[in-house]
Amino acid sequence: MIVLDNVRKNFGDLEVLKGITIQIQDHEIYGIIGQSGAGKSTLLRCINGLESFQSGTITVDDEPVRIEDQKKLHLLQKKMGMIFQNFNLLSRLDVYDNVALPMKFWGMKTKTPEAREKITGLLNLVGLADKIHARPSELSGGQKQRVAIARALVLDPEILLCDEATSALDPTITHGILDLLSKINREMGITIIVVTHQMEVVKQICQRVAFIKDGTVIAEGRPEELFVRPTKEVKAFLQEESGHLPDTGVNIQLFFTDESSDEPVITMMARELGVDFSICWGKLEDFRSSVYGSLVININEKDKDRVLAYLDSKKVISEVL
Ligand SMILES: Nc1ncnc2c1ncn2[C@@H]1O[C@H](COP(=O)(O)OP(=O)(O)O)[C@@H](O)[C@H]1O
Ligand SMILES: [Mg+2]
Repeated sequence: MIVLDNVRKNFGDLEVLKGITIQIQDHEIYGIIGQSGAGKSTLLRCINGLESFQSGTITVDDEPVRIEDQKKLHLLQKKMGMIFQNFNLLSRLDVYDNVALPMKFWGMKTKTPEAREKITGLLNLVGLADKIHARPSELSGGQKQRVAIARALVLDPEILLCDEATSALDPTITHGILDLLSKINREMGITIIVVTHQMEVVKQICQRVAFIKDGTVIAEGRPEELFVRPTKEVKAFLQEESGHLPDTGVNIQLFFTDESSDEPVITMMARELGVDFSICWGKLEDFRSSVYGSLVININEKDKDRVLAYLDSKKVISEVL
């Protein structure tokens, strides 16, 4: 488990992290989302000890991350693989040697049968067995990131830190990389922290997410809950507008989650109550293969109480706007 408690960090006068408190469970895929400059990369670098912080604590499996204790820090860093937006491969090395780099760094031999087995196994996992002797310049962006993922796994880490790992890739390639990360999480049990400014990334793979703005966590929870029923601040981040709603009658927003019933509630309501309404706004979103959504309807003032009671009886969450 990774525990951050009131972590504060500044660069000179610039306060970049203003008391971050989050807990990341083992085997979870945890997202950290926010705009550019929010402090996401700094936060990740504090977690793996590349950056010091002024106050608060960070522990990884009960072990404090302290830059002052280099020996312990290195052991902790061995537990954490990391991938970046720009892949950071060495152009003069082929794929095999790039993946082997962390082993080299730890003084391990990279051409023994065990090392070969390890590295070819990882290249199989990421789908690049046939590129073992290719140079980075011969690979596409998606393939480069796959090499970087294999490299990040070569020391058998418990945690994988991803800093904007798909931000340089187009949507189809991004999808494939995220599928691979999911598979690594599922099959190897590796905890993954995903830092991104892309909502699509969080929606596809994260089980929980923290929204970061100006160095503070403005919301935390399951992505489906935060996206379907955003707080004011999250809404501003998502730049979501519920359109121009009618200023006559009553606007009611309905929320459909995995706990909503499978009944066609809206048409049943129209029929059973004999009410008319117009649909003013709606969205449906896919979250790790479940669909969640929200709908704004406009009804006559006189029907309000009956409609709300009906929605309540059908366990549909609703809110008068
Ligand atoms: N090494 C540094 N020295 C000074 N300021 C920095 C340094 N690294 C980051 N910053 C500043 O800290 C803020 C947060 O940066 P960063 O963590 O990279 O944000 P994000 O990853 O969310 O885009 C930015 O204002 C950035 O300019
Ligand atoms: Mg960043």
